[in-house]
Amino acid sequence: NAEAKVDSVLALMTLEEKVGQLVQYNGSWDLTGPASEVGNKEKEEKLKKGLVGSMLNVLSIEATTEAQKMVMENSRLKIPLMFGYDVIHGYKTIFPVPLGETASWDMAAAERSAQIAALESVAEGVNWTFSPMIDISRDARWGRIMEGSGEDPFLTSKVAVAKVKGYQGDDLSDPRTIAATAKHFAGYGFAEAGREYNTVHVGENELHNTILPPFKAAADAGVATFMNSFNDLDGTPATASKMLQREILKEKWDFQGFVITDWGTIAELVTHGLARDRKHASEIAIKAGSDMDMEGRAYEVGLVELVEEGKVEEALIDDAVRRVLRVKFKLGLFDDPYLYSNPETQLQIDYDQHLREARDIAKKSIVLLKNEKQLLPIKSSVKKIAVIGPLANDKDSPIGNWRAQGEPNSAVSLLEGLKNAVGKDVKVTYAKGADLGMGERSFMKPLKINTTDKSGFEEAVEKAKNAELVIMALGEDAFQTGEGRSQVNIDLPGVQQELLEAVYKVNKNVILVLFNGRPLEITWASENIPAIVEAWLLGSESGNAIADVLFGKYNPSGKLPVSFPRAVGQEPLYYNQKNTGRPANPVEVTYSGYQDVQKDALYPFGFGLSYTTFEYGDLKLSSDEMDQNGEIIVSIALTNTGEVAGKEVVQLYLRDMVASTTRPIKELKAFEMVELNPGETKEISFNITNEMLEFYNADKKWTSEEGVFKIMVGGNSRDLQEAEFYLKK
Ligand code: IFM
Repeated sequence: NAEAKVDSVLALMTLEEKVGQLVQYNGSWDLTGPASEVGNKEKEEKLKKGLVGSMLNVLSIEATTEAQKMVMENSRLKIPLMFGYDVIHGYKTIFPVPLGETASWDMAAAERSAQIAALESVAEGVNWTFSPMIDISRDARWGRIMEGSGEDPFLTSKVAVAKVKGYQGDDLSDPRTIAATAKHFAGYGFAEAGREYNTVHVGENELHNTILPPFKAAADAGVATFMNSFNDLDGTPATASKMLQREILKEKWDFQGFVITDWGTIAELVTHGLARDRKHASEIAIKAGSDMDMEGRAYEVGLVELVEEGKVEEALIDDAVRRVLRVKFKLGLFDDPYLYSNPETQLQIDYDQHLREARDIAKKSIVLLKNEKQLLPIKSSVKKIAVIGPLANDKDSPIGNWRAQGEPNSAVSLLEGLKNAVGKDVKVTYAKGADLGMGERSFMKPLKINTTDKSGFEEAVEKAKNAELVIMALGEDAFQTGEGRSQVNIDLPGVQQELLEAVYKVNKNVILVLFNGRPLEITWASENIPAIVEAWLLGSESGNAIADVLFGKYNPSGKLPVSFPRAVGQEPLYYNQKNTGRPANPVEVTYSGYQDVQKDALYPFGFGLSYTTFEYGDLKLSSDEMDQNGEIIVSIALTNTGEVAGKEVVQLYLRDMVASTTRPIKELKAFEMVELNPGETKEISFNITNEMLEFYNADKKWTSEEGVFKIMVGGNSRDLQEAEFYLKK
């Protein structure tokens, strides 16, 4: 059996070889963190001695084969390497950034894009992705909000499961699948003030009820590995957290895979002020359950001595190594170390088909935020369209950050997409209006935004004057969100707000298309611009997908996975807040709100319009009382009251009215995507079970409590129909 095989390998290993399995080296270039102190020569020697467990950022069949050969042809025990890489939203074919893709609320799409990414990764020797990123993030200032699924634990849990399934399939040893990583464990998305790598202050209640559920879902779905996080959580950096890694993950959840640290986080325990040096940091990290050291150069300098000195029990090292070996066996690497470096796989990839699927997923991710004056879908009578803005013909930003091997400038720009879509009788003119960024753009370089140069405004205004309709493409550069991309301002960057106002002055028929990886502050636009389309950073097929929506070839069905604020000062903003003792009253003073801005979202979680309209009937419950072992059926009729077929995401929220701890005013607990023809009605029903009512309560138990629950159903988290029932225990 599998465990016996793991033990049989472990029994042959020296202590040095065991520690070697817990070391991960970067490839030869400095990609996602500070430069390694280990030179290539030294890495090569260590590989040959079997003192490295895994490499990251080594790409191509040739490079992975070469590294694997060093191990297989020289080391004593020939334990194959795993090759990890950040395949976040596609490998070569790029899908929407995860926040955008989540807006599709389409779990089959989320699974499929991961499956495609796995196929393309394997074609280049990669057998392990550091994805999905399932940090709940509620602060638009935090640059990595783009990499996750937004503010809601339930929706993020669903995406987590879909992604794990997509990457790993049913059989990890199938060379079309790769190992996935649930990251970052835990709390990283709650960085104080949205500042990257900042301290996290959350209590036990928030940790268990909000942050951990997606990780539990990923563990239950069989994710192969976890990655811990950079942050300090209530005084303990995640890498040093026994509570997270041992007590919760490995003991309570019985996770059998291994924990890879984030880049250098063991060594960073010294910088945090928790460890005196790397050896001390290694002692803390291994005891806390961090299994593999990503480029930290800590375990390799500390662990052997620590065991020899009796400070660390060898059993702890054995446990970590066992976990690593287990995943390697599951990947099939012991049967064939070159399983994922097979040139044949490369030949089998149909990149054109992947692009078609990328377009399909991208169009499903678009959210229609506003549509007045019937500007959308664009009518065939419109013959003169001006396309304006720094993102209109940008072929790079839609590729987004964490782009793996997505080629620079390879996206279909909006301008290209529009031109592909219109007939010869439609005149499409273009003006950039202004540059968004200035100078070099790359993963490692800070981005400089243009805040002064408005020399392109005149041309833009002229083109707008001469058009029947203006499409403005504004928002963020790809390198404004992602790691290290926190911002205190989240309005339209640079001179874009001024450009928008200048154009709007001469032509009121403006459709604003937003490109962004975080919620933006767009209050002025929402008050003035008649039509707003949220197009995120949609990947390789961005322009074609947006054109599909703008011309009505696809009726938009996306819904926001994050709240859009009225002002940045509301951040962190999320729908599933607590009631407080003094819920806001807009007229009086001593209530929980703001003096200057309404406290609710400009566009709430779950919101998104369609080209058709939907009407909800009355909410019906099969009973107003539920037994702990029973269930209640909630049903509602949904009618398409418009002129075209469309999809609606019917959302069900619950509120526990009285509990042993304060509970959110609503929490998403179920959703269903429904497609209806004009005039068609469907009865939608959900089963409420005890499991949906459970939470981490005052007794530190995951359980439900007797009492009244409110049920809310509707098309977004704000506009809901309500009913109540009583849970009897
Ligand atoms: O996977 C990433 C992580 O999300 C951030 N630090 C670097 C890792 C590897 O590139």
